[in-house]
Amino acid sequence: MSVASAGGRQVWIKTFGCQMNYHDTERVLAILAEHGFTETTSLEEADLVLFNTCAIRQLANQKFYSQLGAIRELKQAKPGMLIGALGCVAQKEGKKLLKHFPELDFVLGPDQLDRIAEVVLNWATRPMAACCEFDRAPTYSLQTKIYHHGPQAFVNIIKGCNNFCTYCIVPFTRGREKSRHPDEIVQDVAQLAAQGVQEINLLGQNVNAYGKEWHCSLAQLIERLAAIKPLRLIRYTTGHPEDFSDELIALHATCPKLAKHLHLPVQSGSNRILQAMHRKHNREMYLALVEKLCAQAPEVVLTTDLIVGFPGETAEDFAATLDLVRQVRFDALYGYKFSPRPGTPAATMPEQIPDAVKKERLALLQHTQYQIQWEIRQGLIGKTLTLLVEGPSQKHQWQGRSSGNRVVHFNVLGEKTAAVSSVPASSSAPLDLRWHWVEVEIEKATAFALYGRCVRDLGR
Ligand code: SAH
Ligand code: SF4
Ligand code: F3S
Repeated sequence: MSVASAGGRQVWIKTFGCQMNYHDTERVLAILAEHGFTETTSLEEADLVLFNTCAIRQLANQKFYSQLGAIRELKQAKPGMLIGALGCVAQKEGKKLLKHFPELDFVLGPDQLDRIAEVVLNWATRPMAACCEFDRAPTYSLQTKIYHHGPQAFVNIIKGCNNFCTYCIVPFTRGREKSRHPDEIVQDVAQLAAQGVQEINLLGQNVNAYGKEWHCSLAQLIERLAAIKPLRLIRYTTGHPEDFSDELIALHATCPKLAKHLHLPVQSGSNRILQAMHRKHNREMYLALVEKLCAQAPEVVLTTDLIVGFPGETAEDFAATLDLVRQVRFDALYGYKFSPRPGTPAATMPEQIPDAVKKERLALLQHTQYQIQWEIRQGLIGKTLTLLVEGPSQKHQWQGRSSGNRVVHFNVLGEKTAAVSSVPASSSAPLDLRWHWVEVEIEKATAFALYGRCVRDLGR
């Protein structure tokens, strides 16, 4: 059965990696839906199987390779099934992937994703096995496509990265930095808002570098977007300490629609290691930035990324990282063991750190962080947070996300039910709060989660 001729075609997709990849997956699903595909969670039923891959660490690569191996038999039993690899491994490896994995039919790099329908629908007559060219144009144009309709949407504003941190594969998989025109973004977001989107997340590997070619900074773009009336909340991911302007810091204090959350990867607390990483900030610059931000916008919740076991990292360097973590007291951090990526300078640096040492340092980093997180979350008990309800929770009735990006599990029915405006105290009927804004009083906290009860339903 060829995919092109099958009726009621179904696509199964597995996504690895960052929000950029998840957003790309949504785009691919939306494009395929325009051509009659529906998503399935059953591999056996799928006519089209897609892996949206990530190359950032060896583990992400491995997961993809082992899942690909696992469907070899399925493909043999169902020869018409088409299997494609998208994303960063596809970009990095290109045709080599097809050679190593004969079950794979095609690879499509991140700059070529919009060709997915063309590749799949023309497969029987014009098979295109590899489309991995970078888009070389200095800027790019795009209209956001949503597949999962809800009030939250990702909006791509800048792609690529020019920083070449010595450990990182991204500049090789996503190409050079380029931004969308601000007018196009404003129009795009206005359209999303008109369709009911209330929260947007502006996406890029380094969003602070946005708009150089258009003489429009990220702060200026956010100010324009904040003027779009139905829009309630604006997030951006990922921030970079290097390009963080005073203008943007000030906006965190003055723009009520800008989320009270900032993900600002620091990577290390040691200046020696930061320099070897080719990060352009040092410890003092990072701490000064945090101080400035906290002075102007004390409610902003800070999270970060850290790498342990970078080549040459001594016990003193690692101690400096722990010290920075204790000083800043991040709300959450993503810690990673350094993973050598072939083709990046750090992969061949001398003094590679043994895995056992990396493991030990990561455990210590996490232990330190979890204690801090526990203390921060205990301090939230008794406080009331405003949340956008994202859906049912496995732990309580519902779960929602605060402007500070804290996830809260909460119940509606409880001692204070009477205070929930739209629920009569006597009612035991389940209330559908999905996509409502609610106020929740925090009752319990662990290092990782917050639990509470709804004290006010603010509606949609
Ligand atoms: N653009 C973002 C990071 C994107 S990658 C930034 O500059 O901050 C997400 C995270 O993966 C990085 O922040 C880094 O902590 C981690 N990472 C990247 N390359 C890595 C590697 N080779 N080994 C381990 N972690 C890595
Ligand atoms: Fe990678 Fe550095 Fe670019 Fe982030 S800024 S994507 S870590 S090269
Ligand atoms: Fe991975 Fe590519 Fe994102 S390497 S982290 S999917 S940009």
